[in-house]
Amino acid sequence: MRFLVIGGGGREHALCWALSTSPLATEVICAPGNDGIARTVACAPVAVDDLDGIVRLARERRIDIVVVGPELPLVMGLVDHLEAAGIRAFGPDRAAARLEGSKAFMKDFCARHDIPTAGYRVFAEDEAAAALAHVGTAPLPLVVKADGLAAGKGVVIALTREAAREAVEAAFAGAFGDAGATLVIEEFLIGEEASLFAICDGRTALEIGTAQDHKRAFDGDQGPNTGGMGAYSPAPVLTPELVEEVMARIIRPTLAGLAAEGVTYRGFLYAGLMLTADGPKLLEYNVRFGDPECQAVLPRLMTDLGQLILGAVDGVLERMSLRWHPEHALTVVLATEGYPGAVPKGSVIRGLDALEGDDDLLVFHAATRNVEGTWQAHGGRVLAVTGRGPTLEAARERAYGAVARIDWPRGFHRSDIGWRALAR
Ligand code: AMP
Ligand code: GLY
Repeated sequence: MRFLVIGGGGREHALCWALSTSPLATEVICAPGNDGIARTVACAPVAVDDLDGIVRLARERRIDIVVVGPELPLVMGLVDHLEAAGIRAFGPDRAAARLEGSKAFMKDFCARHDIPTAGYRVFAEDEAAAALAHVGTAPLPLVVKADGLAAGKGVVIALTREAAREAVEAAFAGAFGDAGATLVIEEFLIGEEASLFAICDGRTALEIGTAQDHKRAFDGDQGPNTGGMGAYSPAPVLTPELVEEVMARIIRPTLAGLAAEGVTYRGFLYAGLMLTADGPKLLEYNVRFGDPECQAVLPRLMTDLGQLILGAVDGVLERMSLRWHPEHALTVVLATEGYPGAVPKGSVIRGLDALEGDDDLLVFHAATRNVEGTWQAHGGRVLAVTGRGPTLEAARERAYGAVARIDWPRGFHRSDIGWRALAR
């Protein structure tokens, strides 16, 4: 079976790595991939938003299943496009991808199906006066969110009315582009955040792992929000009982609700959760795997990912069950100094090749180039280093031991990944 993975980050490197070990996979290709991924599988230079180019590539390479990594092509309708061309795809179609593509859709959907989430109101662009009136009286803090995809930058937590008004005015003035033309204004939830990942075939959802991310750039959860600076799996705060509660009250009702509305959800589903005193509540849905959570979850998965993806595409997940290695995994992201702002390109990274050959250490490439045998950084988040071990402490030591051997003066990383779980 021939798999084509769409994307070129650390998450896609992990997906390619897991698929390349599948006995089912005769070939794995990644588009566009990156030079690090090219060490694991073949890469083809087609961009994630080149929907026609991806269909052409899948045809040329006689691909059996296209596995879509990032949200952009999913929200653009890549899966609809592939299916119209008779190519099987693992990932939600455009209608299902609205769970991530439109926060207003997601919230209204949760309200229709009684899925626990923060209280909210939706305001369209021509309702700015009503939005301003609402933030003038609603209890603080308030969370102001751009409706559309805003690369993680579309959420403002306003502690004062002044800040809430500013956020509303900025969004309607175009601060988030079209994504902010509609706003969701939410109640602020208190609790610990954790994520649960499921694999879905339209009718059945199976938990594929839990994780906790580290969104802020610097130690102690300081600094600006990023795409994620590190993760570990499992998240001990999500006990087996809580996982079952999330599956029963959030994930399964979501699949059933979509199905009742004529939408088939096939693919990974990522639930961002707040564990509140009233039980778990859904903060957000992402219609893909998390990055870097994927790099911590997949190394724990014992069940063959190729079989699972085929099972999801065939609609037979009901008959499958998942097994994990008993160990823990912890991922540290290495980013170029300046991230999440603009970063210089081309700084040299040494010491990577010396890290090969340890089964419990995985180095996933997110934005590297190999120029005549030398690794260079070409982006914000550049590497994700995952350690595995019998305990979270052991996994952490493995990962940080490797990070210490990477010689990259222009890079930085957080030194406290895992603190929340280790403090428990
Ligand atoms: P989102 O993209 O919707 O997940 O929001 C990004 C981050 O903002 C989340 O990971 C939370 O840390 C925070 N956040 C979002 N919504 C809320 C809420 N209703 N209450 C508290 N924190 C929130
Ligand atoms: N690490 C957060 C995300 O993938 O959205």
